[in-house]
Amino acid sequence: MNKASEEHLGMRISGWGVALPERIVTNDELSQTLDTSNEWILERSGIAERRIGGSTGSLAVEAGKLALKSAGVGPETIDLLIIATTTPDDQIPATSSKVQHELGLSCGAMDINAACSGFVYSLVTGCGFLKAGCNRVLVIGAETLSRFTNWEDRSTAILFGDGAGAVVIEPSDAGGKLLGWDLSSSGELRDILHAVIGGTLYMAGSEVFRKAVIAMTESGKSAIAKAGVSPEEISLVIPHQANIRIIETSMKKLGIPLERAVWVGDKTANTSAASIPIALGHALDNNQVAANDLILLVGFGAGMTAASAVIQWGEINE
Ligand code: COA
Repeated sequence: MNKASEEHLGMRISGWGVALPERIVTNDELSQTLDTSNEWILERSGIAERRIGGSTGSLAVEAGKLALKSAGVGPETIDLLIIATTTPDDQIPATSSKVQHELGLSCGAMDINAACSGFVYSLVTGCGFLKAGCNRVLVIGAETLSRFTNWEDRSTAILFGDGAGAVVIEPSDAGGKLLGWDLSSSGELRDILHAVIGGTLYMAGSEVFRKAVIAMTESGKSAIAKAGVSPEEISLVIPHQANIRIIETSMKKLGIPLERAVWVGDKTANTSAASIPIALGHALDNNQVAANDLILLVGFGAGMTAASAVIQWGEINE
C-alpha cells in the first residue's frame, strides 16, 4: 500500500506537448493491403486512422520541446528526464540519451519500459523524484509501434500508431496534488502480448481485451481508493487509448460516466506509452480541465502491467 493518500505530494503539470507524425494512414488505406474494412475496424476498436512515421527519439524531442515551451522554462532547469517507451530506437543506449542531448538538457536521463502503462509508471516515478529533491522533471511517453508491427497481420496492424506526449512536473503548494496511485504487474500474463527481440508484435486479442478491462478497473479503483475520493468526484478520465470498447466497459465498471473519458484514439490508434500524455495534452489544449478538478489517468499494457494516478489540478494560472 503506497502512502500517497497520507502524504499528498504537492505537484503540478506546468507544461505539456504532443507530437504526431504527419503521415495519416486511414482504415481504408489499410484495407487495400489487408483483408479488413473501415467498418470492421471502427466497430471493433473505434479507430478511424493512425499516424505513422519518425523515430521514437525524434517524436520525443518534438513533444519535449513543446512541453518546455508551454511551461515557459529552459532546458537548464530540468533536473531529470524520464522517457516511457517500449519501442526504443536502439538496444543500447536508452532513447533518453539522444533526447537529453537534442533538448540541451544537462540532467540525468533514463528510459522506463512498462509497455502501455509506461507513462503513468514514469509520472509516478517523476513525482517520487520531486519528493527526493528535484525541482522539475520532464516526463515523455514516445513510441514508434509501426516498427514492431507485422503489416500483414490484420489482427494487430489495425490497432497501433506512432506519437509522443510530454509533461513538465514540478512541486507546488497551490492546490495541485498527486492524491493516489497504483502500479501493478501480472507477469504470468506476459505471453499474451509480446515481441521477441528483432520480432514483431504477437497478441491474443480477445484475451488481452478481457484482461485489459479487469486491469483498468482494478487499477483505477485502487488509485481512487488510495486518493480517498469517490468515483463520482472524478471529473475527467484519461484512459489508455487502445480500444473504445475497452474504455466503455471499464468506465461502467469504475462507476464513472463515459462522457468523462477522453478519447482521441479514433485519430491516433494505440500509441502505447504515448497514448495517455497525447490524450491529456488534447484535453488540456481544449480547456477540459478546471482548477481543483480530479483527474484519473488509467492504463494497462503488455506485461501485463496496469497503472493509475489520481491528480488534483491546482490553480490554473499559477
Ligand atoms: N478485419 C476483419 N476481421 C478481423 C480482423 C480485421 N482487422 N481482425 C480479426 N478479424 C477476425 C478474426 O479473424 C475473427 O474471425 P473468425 O471468427 O472467423 O476467427 C473475427 O474477426 C473475430 O475476432 P475477435 O478477435 O474475436 O474480435 P474482437 O471482437 O475480439 O476484436 C480486437 C478484435 C483485436 C479489436 C479486440 O480483441 C481487441 O481490441 N483486443 C485488445 C487489443 C489491445 O488493446 N491490445 C493492446 C493492449 S495495450
